[in-house]
Amino acid sequence: MSTNNKLKLGWIGLGRMGEAMTRRLLQNDCDLSVWNRTRSKAEPLVGLGAKLVDGKPDVARCDIVFTMVSTTDDLKEVLFGAGGLLSTAARPKMVIDSSSISQEGSAEVRAELEKRGVDYLCAPVSGNAKVVKAGKLLVVASGPKAAYQAAQPYLAMLGRSEMWVGEGELARIWKIAHNTMFGVIIQNLCEITVLAEKAGIPRHVFLESINNSVLGSMYTKYKTPTLVNLGFDHVTFTPKLLLKDMDLGMGAAKTYGVPMPAAAATRESIAGLVGRGYDDIDFSVLLLETAKSAGLTLTPENVEVSDGLS
Ligand SMILES: NC(=O)c1ccc[n+]([C@@H]2O[C@H](COP(=O)([O-])OP(=O)(O)OC[C@H]3O[C@@H](n4cnc5c(N)ncnc54)[C@H](OP(=O)(O)O)[C@@H]3O)[C@@H](O)[C@H]2O)c1
Repeated sequence: MSTNNKLKLGWIGLGRMGEAMTRRLLQNDCDLSVWNRTRSKAEPLVGLGAKLVDGKPDVARCDIVFTMVSTTDDLKEVLFGAGGLLSTAARPKMVIDSSSISQEGSAEVRAELEKRGVDYLCAPVSGNAKVVKAGKLLVVASGPKAAYQAAQPYLAMLGRSEMWVGEGELARIWKIAHNTMFGVIIQNLCEITVLAEKAGIPRHVFLESINNSVLGSMYTKYKTPTLVNLGFDHVTFTPKLLLKDMDLGMGAAKTYGVPMPAAAATRESIAGLVGRGYDDIDFSVLLLETAKSAGLTLTPENVEVSDGLS
């Protein structure tokens, strides 16, 4: 497989992340065929040059097929289920999956793909759709090095940086560790923000000071406007997806025999959020629940604060 940018690419899964990532490929003039279960989400991409196909097997003639769906089961379904990518004789040369899924599930997917002569790269990412749009996504891949080298020019188009961490499912472990930290940070950021506000420091003042401290990060910065103005309707990532990732973290902790007390407490807190019915809302709504537990009712501060991205 040559590495010029004229390889035929396919994409399955145009949710928040998939949609933003495909836009990057289209901006780079890639030959891209797309499929999404909810077709209407794929239609706007046609105006940008994407070919919208009717069924998943229609993208199996591409050289590389990217997948960005929700869970391990969803990935198996789009690849191997009835009407799935591989349900006809057509085969792509490679599948690259960027969904956040378990190491075990990913190994099963690899075995099935290899049986069918298809290379497989795990390529989880760090960053939400806004981070993708700002060109700051990080892609971390694992799988056969030669497959990574062939795919690398396309992975590079997705964001600011890409790296290979080794063979097999190692990138899944990387992502599970990454998202465990993602959960623990939002948990603690909500706790200390409520603490500061209850003691008398306005939220925007506190969060901007943390962003300017040694503890500030791209993550604390881009969550700041939402936490200050309580704009949880702009969904970057749902409580349910975060709970899935915390469960993956706890599962890996059990597999490798690593105690993770901070992650365990966070997992329970996020489970409470899901249990209380928070669904199509940004996960950082955790701030409201944390405040409620402290007897504090929050209101939007209506202050313009930087997200560090735009
Ligand atoms: N959002 C983030 O900040 C972020 C960052 C890094 C990684 N991730 C991970 O990336 C993945 C996608 O996240 P997202 O935020 O883009 O989620 P999302 O907006 O909920 O999108 C999920 C996508 O998967 C498709 N899908 C799910 N189950 C399917 C099935 N059984 N068959 C066919 N299509 C199916 C959905 O199709 P429909 O449109 O028809 O529902 C949609 O295109 C998740 O694994 C998530 O954990 C998310």
